[in-house]
Amino acid sequence: MKRSPLISPELLERIVDASEDGIVVAEQEGDENILIYVNQGFERLTGYSADEILYQDCRFLQNEDRDQPGLDAIRKAIQEGRPCREVLRNYRKDGTLFYNELSITPVHDEDDNLTYYIGVQKDVTERVEAQMELERLKAEQGL
Ligand SMILES: Cc1cc2nc3c(=O)[nH]c(=O)nc-3n(C[C@H](O)[C@H](O)[C@H](O)COP(=O)(O)O)c2cc1C
Repeated sequence: MKRSPLISPELLERIVDASEDGIVVAEQEGDENILIYVNQGFERLTGYSADEILYQDCRFLQNEDRDQPGLDAIRKAIQEGRPCREVLRNYRKDGTLFYNELSITPVHDEDDNLTYYIGVQKDVTERVEAQMELERLKAEQGL
């Protein structure tokens, strides 16, 4: 498909970097999906620089917090080559928790082989914490 002549690769990169959300590309390597691109939004969100984390699987953002239902759903979707969206507990480089609404989309090459995944990381911490507070208040009032 022909690209728009109105956007140069440099401008496209500036646009992707300006996104508040993390945008990453991972390549399948054996059982892992290793990062081959992260935008600046990912660096701002997680506190890790691209140099520190390229070629690693993104699971390092979970630290030791590996018992999460969203991970089972992600594993299954990846096995089946399907897109998925799940909220995960992730940890920045400084150890602080954030809730990551992660969307993963498979990308196929011209021969229809699944080669890459795009991941978009949205910080939904405020929304999740507000929901949790609401649940707590409801439980307190016996609702
Ligand atoms: C493109 C892509 C982006 C991902 N981004 C994240 C992420 O931001 N945070 C996270 O905890 N896991 C992320 N994952 C999921 C992990 O890489 C891994 O699939 C998940 O932990 C389940 O597999 P595991 O049990 O082998 O770790 C991403 C996966 C892909 C393919």
